[in-house]
Amino acid sequence: MVSSATKLGHLTAKSAVFSAASAMPCTSGEGQPIRKEENLSQGITAMQAQWAIETRDLTKTFILRKQFHTAVHNLNLTVADGETVGFLGANGAGKTTTIKMLLDFIAPTRGQAWLYGIPSSEPAARRVVGYMPEQPYFPRYLTPGELMYAHAALAGVPPRETKLRVEIALEMARADSFAHRPIGKLSKGMTQRVALAQALVGNPHLLILDEPASGLDPVARVEMRSVLQALKEQGKTIFLSSHHLGEVELICDRVAIIHQGHLLAYGTPEELTQQTDRFVLVAEGAAPQTERNLRSLCSSLRRDGTQLVGVTDERGVYDAIALLREHGARLVSVSQQRETLEEVFLRIVANAPTTQPASKAA
Ligand SMILES: Nc1ncnc2c1ncn2[C@@H]1O[C@H](COP(=O)(O)OP(=O)(O)OP(=O)(O)O)[C@@H](O)[C@H]1O
Ligand SMILES: [Mg+2]
Repeated sequence: MVSSATKLGHLTAKSAVFSAASAMPCTSGEGQPIRKEENLSQGITAMQAQWAIETRDLTKTFILRKQFHTAVHNLNLTVADGETVGFLGANGAGKTTTIKMLLDFIAPTRGQAWLYGIPSSEPAARRVVGYMPEQPYFPRYLTPGELMYAHAALAGVPPRETKLRVEIALEMARADSFAHRPIGKLSKGMTQRVALAQALVGNPHLLILDEPASGLDPVARVEMRSVLQALKEQGKTIFLSSHHLGEVELICDRVAIIHQGHLLAYGTPEELTQQTDRFVLVAEGAAPQTERNLRSLCSSLRRDGTQLVGVTDERGVYDAIALLREHGARLVSVSQQRETLEEVFLRIVANAPTTQPASKAA
């Protein structure tokens, strides 16, 4: 079987990176169809923009039961081309509302967003975007394969490339094994993979994924991560919202934390995490009795092949080193542990000022 990477090679040799964008059935200002070259150069111009995503004072206020409710407050965010950014926040933090504004599904109350330098209110901004919704709804009677053909057409994939693009998208999203089953008969996790395939079929440069791992079992989550890793290695820009902090930590270059519509932190995991007062100690050649003694000094201790890996505080480190020396075991390393992203998230959110309650609409 030909791999998706090989298939991709065939396609990229035949077409420009913005093949899907270049063939969009759109019109110019005068209502004339835009020629392929013009459209392609529009895509390339867009690529030369400073940021893949930029928001300036992006704000959305809803009116709910005669009350103003600001879901997103003055959001200023930039995502560089080729970056993978995780958008983290609790339920109701404003992630989906932000994504909907980026894609012009809803208009901002104030502020603006740009995708590759093009205002998000312009259809051209979406030409390089693949979007995976939080709650995908697809016609139940269609198969993933049929759905992909429809989405490929919507994304402007040239007919001669469609079959290959559909195969690549289904394979990349690991949805190829059930491509001929009606969508109504798929599990939630399978439907998620179809939603990812749908986002990939136009070979977009920018992927906006709203909770791609939602509803996936642990194995499927690992698979999803490896798919995102592969997309990242292809140079795609990925903006994904998530609750799975561990996953985000493993894949994202930068992480944005949003809480009650306010951006509280934005940076690389290294920038956001602080040193803890915990130390990780690795030892080798410890006899069972040494291991038992070591366990009493550590908050956690596990075996990793021939090595013991323990976590302890500063005092525990000194005692453990003395114990290992006394029992003739070897100390391999000691390192100070950094916070996990989950700890960062909880710390930042716990220290956030509480927001004003909703005010009455006129
Ligand atoms: N159409 C709407 N009308 C009124 N309020 C809305 C609307 N859409 C969203 N909200 C409110 O805006 C806030 C942010 O919602 P949003 O869907 O952006 O959260 P989220 O971070 O995506 O949460 P989740 O993790 O649960 O998906 C919530 O308080 C929600 O009730
Ligand atoms: Mg959401």
